[in-house]
Amino acid sequence: MSRRFGLDGRVAVVTGALGNLGPVWAEGLLEAGAVVVGLDLPSATPNAAFGQLQKTYGESKLLLIGASVTDRSALLSARERVTSEFGVPQVLVNNAGIDAPPNPSGGGYRLDEIPFDLNRRIFDVNTLGLFQVAQIFGTEMVKAGRGSVINIGSLYASVSPDPRFYDHIESDPPFLKPPAYGASKAAVVNLTKYLATAWGPYGVRVNTLSPGGVLGKQDEQFKRKFCDRVPLGRMAVYEDLVGPLQFLASDASAYVTGAELRVDGGFTAW
Ligand SMILES: NC(=O)c1ccc[n+]([C@@H]2O[C@H](COP(=O)([O-])OP(=O)(O)OC[C@H]3O[C@@H](n4cnc5c(N)ncnc54)[C@H](O)[C@@H]3O)[C@@H](O)[C@H]2O)c1
Repeated sequence: MSRRFGLDGRVAVVTGALGNLGPVWAEGLLEAGAVVVGLDLPSATPNAAFGQLQKTYGESKLLLIGASVTDRSALLSARERVTSEFGVPQVLVNNAGIDAPPNPSGGGYRLDEIPFDLNRRIFDVNTLGLFQVAQIFGTEMVKAGRGSVINIGSLYASVSPDPRFYDHIESDPPFLKPPAYGASKAAVVNLTKYLATAWGPYGVRVNTLSPGGVLGKQDEQFKRKFCDRVPLGRMAVYEDLVGPLQFLASDASAYVTGAELRVDGGFTAW
């Protein structure tokens, strides 16, 4: 790996470390030489990908701490532990998020029936929780005079989900991706700009990395309809996300702040 992209000896925090993408970010950072601290809900259990990384790199390189992004005192304790055991983080990947993929057994809400609390829960984690984590770890980066914060957005920060992707799913009411999801991610893009301008003078960069649809266990019809909409003709695979993260985390992007890097195969280009 080019030295420019290296993270040797740097400490990185990744929230939502036990989901699908958490271990992908963690592996990209570990591969570049960083020590990684994963945060996730205290009730979440390590998945196979995270467990494998811990086996490969050892707990001295990849630590897990239970803390919800909505729990300020747990985050403050996590910060205390990270800084005393490893030092002030230089990289923060604000990845924890709530989405609501289609439920194969149907269900869900009509637009006019979506409960206030469902919308609020999504904003609490995806936007307000992300801001809170940035406050808590970013402030230490500001004091140290360096750091890179990467907020994970989504293609739905820019465009609304196309309901035709889901119209083959038997469901009454028809599946709706919660409107709060995209709205909460659009807010992340703006918060990123706010923090980038506030912390730029202190050497802390803040950017959004917005993945497109990532290949997972989606059904075949969804995948076909989705891929037809992507200029590069396919969904993202984990490997597609690693280079962009290493770029934003490292000195390779030393003059990039306040930006949204869309890693979506061109989905939002037309
Ligand atoms: N997978 C995709 O296709 C895709 C596409 C675009 C954007 N994204 C974004 O990438 C991020 C990760 O997505 P994913 O697919 O890994 O999701 P996921 O649901 O697999 O994982 C999310 C993780 O966040 C954790 N989490 C939830 N609430 C939390 C809280 N309050 N505090 C701490 N941790 C919490 C969960 O326990 C889980 O481990 C999300 O922000 C998502 O919106 C994903």
